[in-house]
Amino acid sequence: MSPSPLIGSSSSVAPEEVLPAGMASRSSRIPGFYQLSAEERLQALARYADLDGQEIDFLRTAAALTPEKADKMVENAIGIHAMPLGLGLNFFINGRDYLVPMAIEEASVVASASYSAKLIREAGGFIAGSSGRIMIGQIQVVHCPNLEVARQELLDRADELIELANRAYPSMAERGGGARELEVRILGAGSSEGRAAAAGRGAAAAVPMLVAQFYIDTQDAMGANVINTMMEAVAPVIEEFTGGRVYLRILSNLTDRCLAWSQVVLPPRVLKTGHLSGEDVVEGILMAQAFADADPYRAATHNKGVMNGIDAVVIATGNDWRAIEAGCHAYAARDGQYGAMTHWSRDGQGNLVGRIELPMAVGTAGVVRSNPASALALKILGVETARELAEVIVSVGLAQNLAAIKALATEGIQKGHMALHARNVAMSAGARGDEVEEIALAMVQSREIRLAKALELLNRKR
Ligand code: MEV
Repeated sequence: MSPSPLIGSSSSVAPEEVLPAGMASRSSRIPGFYQLSAEERLQALARYADLDGQEIDFLRTAAALTPEKADKMVENAIGIHAMPLGLGLNFFINGRDYLVPMAIEEASVVASASYSAKLIREAGGFIAGSSGRIMIGQIQVVHCPNLEVARQELLDRADELIELANRAYPSMAERGGGARELEVRILGAGSSEGRAAAAGRGAAAAVPMLVAQFYIDTQDAMGANVINTMMEAVAPVIEEFTGGRVYLRILSNLTDRCLAWSQVVLPPRVLKTGHLSGEDVVEGILMAQAFADADPYRAATHNKGVMNGIDAVVIATGNDWRAIEAGCHAYAARDGQYGAMTHWSRDGQGNLVGRIELPMAVGTAGVVRSNPASALALKILGVETARELAEVIVSVGLAQNLAAIKALATEGIQKGHMALHARNVAMSAGARGDEVEEIALAMVQSREIRLAKALELLNRKR
């Protein structure tokens, strides 16, 4: 399809002339967005997020990441792996609208996040927050002649060690970040912390060790390189001070001093379905919560639903989703039993209250911008800081979880999946506007969701 004259052109056309309802007022509530063609959506987004011609082409052709760039990012590069990028709608967080880019291959994730974000916005939106952004670097020291003496020595010289760490990465200190604090832990034989962990894993004998744990402010960067560089720089001095031998020097992905949380309060009326009262739906969601709380087998699936939303935004914004996955699951097991990442309860007025809190060490600066598609996703999202990004991401996780457990506790997920599939087939057959719903519904009713059927229905109608 040839690019629209609007794309990358001047702003001589007033936004309301080209933007679907909602977008002109910079709302993320855009009725009928899904009924537009992909090209029409792109045009509308270009206006909304002020994208230039090159950025539009990046989205249209996935050409943001060139083979040359890819070759500099990984070894043995042979190409580029593309993924669909959808737009999560209706997100209203801390009084601000967000259009949320989501990179994901699974059908219905973007639609269901947008669906529950719509319910949540009707109830006032998400209230989200975050802690400071303090990351953790660890240095493992073994064979210390005396663990307690070594520990005290490191604590006594903490200022010196912190300064040394900061000298290893001066630009972080210049940006207002850097190593802040040192904690020294004793693990292994004789320590309750190490004994419990080793016993849980059937380890024959816990190895006595000391862990020098640095707390580092990485500002708006995720900071892996900063932390690892600092740890490697400090390690020889740690060996000298302790008389022990250093093995591992690496960040921890359990970033429990870099947390983000989000909360929603939903009156039952926004949850009611065609067949069930809002109170019944609340009850079903509380039963889903009880199942996840009682059973790690269910908690894993419950959390997979949460991560459907989280990963999609983490990937779109160029962040390290393996790090985020590791941190979130470890945090979900912080009480000794793997549990749900979200918590749903009922307040005194009968409202459904949902809360999520997770480690969210994402960045908006540094390496995440090496892929221009990620920089573009950040521009569309319009976040100013890494903390704001983290708050949006956990809100998407909460919305995704609500959509999943609401469907599971009521009509099941297949009905919605089939309806979405039918819409996609109708659109592939050329249905536009109101035709999309009409043809999709006819296919669902006839239990024949196929392109040939959609074409037949469309021909008959036209
Ligand atoms: C599927 O991708 C995610 C769900 O299984 C999540 C859940 O069961 O809560 C539907």
